[in-house]
Amino acid sequence: MKFARKADHIEICLNKDVNATRKYWDDVQMLHKALPGLDMGAIDTSVELFGKKLAAPIIISAITGGFEGAEKINLNLAQAAAEVGVGIGVGSQRPALENPELAGSYEVVKNFKVPLVIGNVGAPQLVAQKKRAAFGVDECKQAMKMINADILAIHMNFLQEIVQPEGDTNAAGCLEAIGAAAKQVPVLAKETGAGITREMAHELRLKGVKGIDVGGLGGTSFSAVEYHRAVGRNEDTLSRLGRTFWNWGIPTPVSILEADVGLPVIATGGLETGLDAAKAISLGASAGGFSRKMLAPAMDSPEAVARELRVIIAELKAAMFLTGARNVGELQAVPYVVTGHLSEWMNALYWEEPEE
Ligand SMILES: Cc1cc2nc3c(=O)[nH]c(=O)nc-3n(C[C@H](O)[C@H](O)[C@H](O)COP(=O)(O)O)c2cc1C
Repeated sequence: MKFARKADHIEICLNKDVNATRKYWDDVQMLHKALPGLDMGAIDTSVELFGKKLAAPIIISAITGGFEGAEKINLNLAQAAAEVGVGIGVGSQRPALENPELAGSYEVVKNFKVPLVIGNVGAPQLVAQKKRAAFGVDECKQAMKMINADILAIHMNFLQEIVQPEGDTNAAGCLEAIGAAAKQVPVLAKETGAGITREMAHELRLKGVKGIDVGGLGGTSFSAVEYHRAVGRNEDTLSRLGRTFWNWGIPTPVSILEADVGLPVIATGGLETGLDAAKAISLGASAGGFSRKMLAPAMDSPEAVARELRVIIAELKAAMFLTGARNVGELQAVPYVVTGHLSEWMNALYWEEPEE
């Protein structure tokens, strides 16, 4: 019953409006180079991330696991990721850590040679909550072993936790717990749609994380997802919270600049095309992450996922060509322009670098 919410999330994300209201990527423009000065056929989209070689700087960001139907989704994603040569993250492995019978829906990714596999546990699970003891480093190791993960995403989702009925809202000690985990396993600190500030990124870096997935505002809003669940259950307070916080967070493009503290940054949050990924990389990200965009093809087949990934990579390559970027390193340095509402965010940024 507890994990019925995983199935609810899929159902809601496929059928309801769960998107943040603004599409921030439309406010980032890359500068067209009329004579790119290179042969498009010679463009190299490959990249090394966390010591692994990917054919393109694309990650399928965490979606699911732990309920009937999840195995097919993870199989389809993993088979396509292996075929195309991109990274994949599984959804929260909490269900399988609490009930090993559910591990199969994650373990399926081990059947494929995916170049970069990212495990997933929640920061709220690393500290004691009302009815539950904390997961420790042993569970983190177990999660990694379950899928032969290269790195473990520890997701920060307190926006979601405040709107969901069974929410874990004790955040005291999470940073320290992430630090303890990062001493034993490689950790990717990951938000889930509300972004990360520079201060937060610095604190996470000092705790030893190896990378940051900014999971910014502009795509799937978990406040919106939980709003729909709350409406379905006639939960008045929670549905109103979900509405009120629908657009809470730091836009993904802003968060990429904020989280630039010398670690690889994965830009997830509202990416729909390879052009969005190119924009994210021009802002300094190491890779673009796609979550909800991959859900519908993942419900279908590995071929549908691979087709979607190939279109994304073709769009990314086209943007590289039209900006004269021979490789991903050059793409990180191409100029961009920020317009509209997003430019107000960018102009308001002020960084006081902490003393170390
Ligand atoms: C159906 C669904 C389930 C998700 N479950 C998880 C999860 O278990 N763990 C996690 O770290 N992120 C989870 N996410 C968040 C995504 O990884 C991502 O950060 C967020 O959806 C923003 O990206 P998007 O706009 O491309 O969807 C989930 C997203 C979706 C759509």
